Amino acid sequence: MSGKPANGQDKNANAMWGGRFASSPSALMEAINVSIGFDRRLAAQDIRGSVAHADMLAKQGIISEEDRDAIHDGLKRILEEIEGGHFTFSTALEDIHMNVEGRLRDLIGPAAGRLHTARSRNDQVATDVRLWVREAHDRADAQITNLMDTLLTQAAAHAETVMPGFTHLQSAQPVTFGHHLMAYVEMLGRDRSRIRDSRKRLNECPLGAAALAGTSFPIDRHATAEALGFDGPTRNSLDSVSDRDFILEYLSIASISAMHLSRLAEEIVIWMTPQFGFVRLSDQWTTGSSIMPQKKNPDAAELVRAKPGRIIGSLVALLTVMKGLPLTYSKDMQEDKERLFDAADTYELVLAAVSGMIADLKPVSERMAAAAGAGFATATDLADWLVRALEMPFRDAHHVTGRLVAEAEQRGCGLEDLSLDVMQAVEPRITDAVYGVLGVENSVRSRMSFGGTAPDNVRAQIAWWRARL
Ligand code: ARG
Repeated sequence: MSGKPANGQDKNANAMWGGRFASSPSALMEAINVSIGFDRRLAAQDIRGSVAHADMLAKQGIISEEDRDAIHDGLKRILEEIEGGHFTFSTALEDIHMNVEGRLRDLIGPAAGRLHTARSRNDQVATDVRLWVREAHDRADAQITNLMDTLLTQAAAHAETVMPGFTHLQSAQPVTFGHHLMAYVEMLGRDRSRIRDSRKRLNECPLGAAALAGTSFPIDRHATAEALGFDGPTRNSLDSVSDRDFILEYLSIASISAMHLSRLAEEIVIWMTPQFGFVRLSDQWTTGSSIMPQKKNPDAAELVRAKPGRIIGSLVALLTVMKGLPLTYSKDMQEDKERLFDAADTYELVLAAVSGMIADLKPVSERMAAAAGAGFATATDLADWLVRALEMPFRDAHHVTGRLVAEAEQRGCGLEDLSLDVMQAVEPRITDAVYGVLGVENSVRSRMSFGGTAPDNVRAQIAWWRARL
């Protein structure tokens, strides 16, 4: 099949690097090597990088202005073809970089070959992926902010809605639903600051590191960096083409954040059970059962709970690819993209789904309040009152409270239903002022310590975050 011309070179050899190759790759070689099926998602970034590179080459007198203009026109047309869905991707051309350059040659002829002066696919792909990951950072930042905003709105509406707070998933002390939601605002706030922090670190431009050692052409890396919105060029050419830590950081952040969201999703699943009945989700966010007509299943929340598996899997996969790789570029690193794209798609879907569910969530205040009061939830408040009002040591107060809980349990009533006589039989110094701390509302209102669940505190937290969104 190979039809060799007189110079011994295979006419099927790769047009981009086929000079010293006598035959074309085996079909399996092509199958394992090809990345165009997924790295076509870098097309816009690749073209942006090439436009900036050609611009710089012309300014530095490395290519003519005529060639630059032809290259720009060709690249513009290619981007339109790709975005319009009428670009023919070729697996023989391996990846997005060579597909774009190949098409440029069709469109503008030999000038296309000058674009790759003072550049390699190694710094090219490193630049493209950085641009892509930077955009993923910005998308995540906006989505996290939107979710925080949605949580703040719900929290403001429910700053006084009491519910049980849990430890060990056992009712512990009453809190407000607003306070509970604000815990997630804090988590997401940290996720967002991790994103911003990592964006700063990644925002250096590898373009011009060339294959690994830099180039002898008088390029201006500061100019290309600036044109592409980077803070400046990377400082070491070897590092520039060989690290993917900026992807790993993104995957770590997405993993941590998706983990946070999975905990919220799990709480929605628990709260939705008829046994809890703390919240309702509309038909928009639930599914029915094909056999049990009464069912309303929180499938979206369950999937949000499950999806971190993919994202964490991607992080572990890429860490495994990168560990032990010698400097500088190795083809192993092509494995970064599918993991990155899948993780980003998943993370963005999950963020959007959680925002939708939180906006849709209807708390059932009566169920929450009833559960908040059950199980002597204000026992700690009673003990604290004994310490404050009677100057009892906390250990003694704990003991007295235990005896009062036993009295209430025997009578099958709540602490607030015990008569003063019964209380005074246990501790004669108790006065009727004690009833002021016994209801769940009173309990919650009394937790005024900084960061505590008192509604006024929760409203202050909401205002603090509103000013920071
Ligand atoms: N498709 C390659 C990748 O994603 C581009 C870089 C190829 N470089 C090379 N020297 N073969 O890593």
